[in-house]
Amino acid sequence: MIFWRVKSLDAILATAEKKKLHRSLGPLQLTLLGIGAIIGTGIFVLTAEAAQKAGPGMMLSFVIASFVCTVAALCYSELSSMVPVSGSAYTYSYAVLGELIAWLVGWALMLEYSVAASAVAVGWSGYFVGLFQSSLGVELPFALINGPFAGGIINLPAVFICLLVIGLLVIGTRESATFNAILVAVKVAALMLFIALTIPAASIDNFQPFLPLGEAGVIAAASSIFFAYVGFDAVSTAAEETKNPQRNVPIGLISSLGICTVFYLLISVGAIGAVGAQPLMDATGKNLAPGSLMLAEQCQSLAAIGQQPLVCSREALAQVLREIGWEKIGNLLGLTAFLALPSVILMMLFGQTRIFFVMSRDGLLPEALSRIHPRFKTPHIVTYVTGLGVTIAAAFLPVGKLADISNSGTLFAFMVVAFAVMILRIKDKSRARPFRTPGIWLVGPLAVGGCITLFLFLPMDAKLVFPIWSGIGLIFYFFYGYRKSHVGLGIDTPVGGENIISPVRPLADYDQSEQQPVIKSKG
Ligand code: ALA
Repeated sequence: MIFWRVKSLDAILATAEKKKLHRSLGPLQLTLLGIGAIIGTGIFVLTAEAAQKAGPGMMLSFVIASFVCTVAALCYSELSSMVPVSGSAYTYSYAVLGELIAWLVGWALMLEYSVAASAVAVGWSGYFVGLFQSSLGVELPFALINGPFAGGIINLPAVFICLLVIGLLVIGTRESATFNAILVAVKVAALMLFIALTIPAASIDNFQPFLPLGEAGVIAAASSIFFAYVGFDAVSTAAEETKNPQRNVPIGLISSLGICTVFYLLISVGAIGAVGAQPLMDATGKNLAPGSLMLAEQCQSLAAIGQQPLVCSREALAQVLREIGWEKIGNLLGLTAFLALPSVILMMLFGQTRIFFVMSRDGLLPEALSRIHPRFKTPHIVTYVTGLGVTIAAAFLPVGKLADISNSGTLFAFMVVAFAVMILRIKDKSRARPFRTPGIWLVGPLAVGGCITLFLFLPMDAKLVFPIWSGIGLIFYFFYGYRKSHVGLGIDTPVGGENIISPVRPLADYDQSEQQPVIKSKG
């Protein structure tokens, strides 16, 4: 009963075939695309939150989060090689599990992309403020650079960067593969420098006690630091522009994740070894929740006596370098984050508007949302609506909470993709699978189990947001989408996201008469 209104895989593939795009991306560009979307606020900022939850054991948290992402990526690989069209988990679910589940996945992806954009904006704000203070010696007013959870009023730098990126999206800015490659090179160079300077400065004493908050702390930190790996799914959205996607998309997914895992591990070893990573506790010996007012207050009292432990930092990696005497290089790393994080916001917001757009075109959301701007030819209404939510969240919520909320939606989407692969293996045995997830009956359940475990270890408020958000989604679906769905009404619409612009399609154009984006075929 819940698997109603399934879109036919053959119809999806046939539509994609008709609107063929120029296939220009190879495995290297795909890997760079993945790394570009992955490296962001997670590693640059949330390392501090992970330390507060797990202490030096956060090294293991990086491994656990990477493992869950890898098994999920193996499942993504099979689906994206079978259905090499854009639209990602939403399209796959529509084809395999039907409209209701697809709706829930699309709804969860909104949480993933929008809230992740807000989180990265807040992360950027920390580096912006740090750069002002360390390079120019200017102290910005506390109340205007912190949301209420940190004892301030509003995070204005985060608001500023959200508005800037929204403006860029409305006027039609896309990130080209070349621009992405340059930013990736800058980020990777900064992180390599970090590793090269911190590992020689590491002391074994800084790893003791290794698990101050036990194994539970390690898994809780993994649930949060999972955010640092999110974004690899961007690779699967570029399937249609990829040469030999059956081979190259899985390579792009797995190698971008693999490379980031190695970097993240070395960075965590360097950070812990160089300055230590012990969590701050309250008077009763309980660790203070990241993003809480109590932690913010304790950090402020420590700052007043000239101490700033890693767990208090809003620009964790830059601060580690400053603390071990590399002041200028710390500032340079801060500058890198300052320059590179907006592109992650752009990718996330772009992904969000795309999901909104596809759902609206499928009739599940009001069509007005997919209206195209007469001059800029971009889906501006969707962008404004998304932008408003993203900006408000960034203005008032702390980075860790936002990342946790985003993770809850992502974990659900990953879990559904793993289910979809397994169901399709049973339902449609004979369909060609250019990439087969190795050991699916082990990898699939591991992906599902891993996602559920990380979800259960999220903080309670993030865990609650997801069912509430899904409940709102279900109400909306039954009052609107169910009745207006094009599949339900038997209207033949383009399927999935196959003709939607992607972050690596700078030559995208729109056909205004159809009020939907159409890619100019270059092939
Ligand atoms: N993985 C991305 C980041 O850490 C979302 O910013």
